[in-house]
Amino acid sequence: MNPETTRKLINPKASATRTVSIVGTGSYLPERVLTNKELETLVDTSDDWIYTRTGIRERRIAAPDEATSDMASHAARKALEMAGIEPGDVDMIIVATCTPDMFFPSTACFVQKQIGASKAFCLDVSAACSGFLYALEVAHQFVASQSAHTALVIGAEKMSSVIDWQDRTTCVLFGDGAGAAVLQAREEPHGILTTVLGANGNLSDLLSIPGGGSRLPYSPETLDKRMNYLKMAGREVFKHAVTNMSNAVLEALKQCGATVDDVACIIPHQANARIIQAIGQRMNAPMEKFYINVHKYGNTSAASTIVALDEAVRSGRVQKEDLILMVVFGGGFTWAASLVEW
Ligand code: ACO
Repeated sequence: MNPETTRKLINPKASATRTVSIVGTGSYLPERVLTNKELETLVDTSDDWIYTRTGIRERRIAAPDEATSDMASHAARKALEMAGIEPGDVDMIIVATCTPDMFFPSTACFVQKQIGASKAFCLDVSAACSGFLYALEVAHQFVASQSAHTALVIGAEKMSSVIDWQDRTTCVLFGDGAGAAVLQAREEPHGILTTVLGANGNLSDLLSIPGGGSRLPYSPETLDKRMNYLKMAGREVFKHAVTNMSNAVLEALKQCGATVDDVACIIPHQANARIIQAIGQRMNAPMEKFYINVHKYGNTSAASTIVALDEAVRSGRVQKEDLILMVVFGGGFTWAASLVEW
């Protein structure tokens, strides 16, 4: 640089970070209900086995021509409507999913097209069932640092497209759906307080879809071995889910100087009612604090937490200034916990 020149540049990102709030939520569940009773006709299982082991009674299944982005777009429109924001004012769309419409383009690009958010940049996040909180934190950082003004964060899954309908150990657990949240900076000192993120790639084999990617591309052999479907070591997943979610919750509370007593509503990943009970015991939190809808939708992976949050908000279960705790766990393994002052 020429020493004679006095350069006076402005770094637009240098100011203190801003408080970011969730200013709208929305969700969409496909119409088709698949009950445990109906599953009894597909695989060797029973309503009683499924309900006592998981708390699930029924789940929703997307129509054959309904893709993840279609469900995501329905949820996004509802969230924008609640926030009173036009699609054209969205700067950023981030979709958490492990069942994208295609390898590429990203599902977020398809959502952009469907809702007409032509100004938005678009990306997907892959963190399996933990995806929504991972995406929430990415968007939070963009908005806090003024790189985006309005972000649309979506968790959407068509799990029915990656489930092995011949495998009774997994096909009874999952369902389809989508949820969305709109983020903007707000003057008030509430909003997203912290998000604790974690992962352990050493345990990736315990929950995955092994075939169809660059490691094992589709071939007659991978299809023959049904490797294009979700595989899970249920018992192992259960143990790690309880431990990591409980630890993430404790860390998030500690970071904010809060205790379980301060929390008005806990929104856990809706995979299994017994996992939620085990976390409640470890946290010393009564079950009444948890918002649970796993009986209606099963495990909708990245959609589960935001669908539950939207229901809790719309039903009045979550009130202004309430402290909300969200906690998730998924393939990777990945996990996260967020504390939000509503
Ligand atoms: N119907 C009837 N019997 C079944 C079924 C079924 N759908 N599935 C398994 N069984 C049988 C097994 O074959 C086994 O029979 P066996 O004793 O004759 O071998 C028996 O039931 C017990 O099987 P387990 O797998 O040991 O049963 P468990 O009590 O561990 O429950 C479950 C299985 C529900 C999957 C449990 O391990 C679990 O919930 N794990 C966590 C899974 C989860 O929530 N994953 C999602 C979190 S991460 C994410 O969201 C992607």
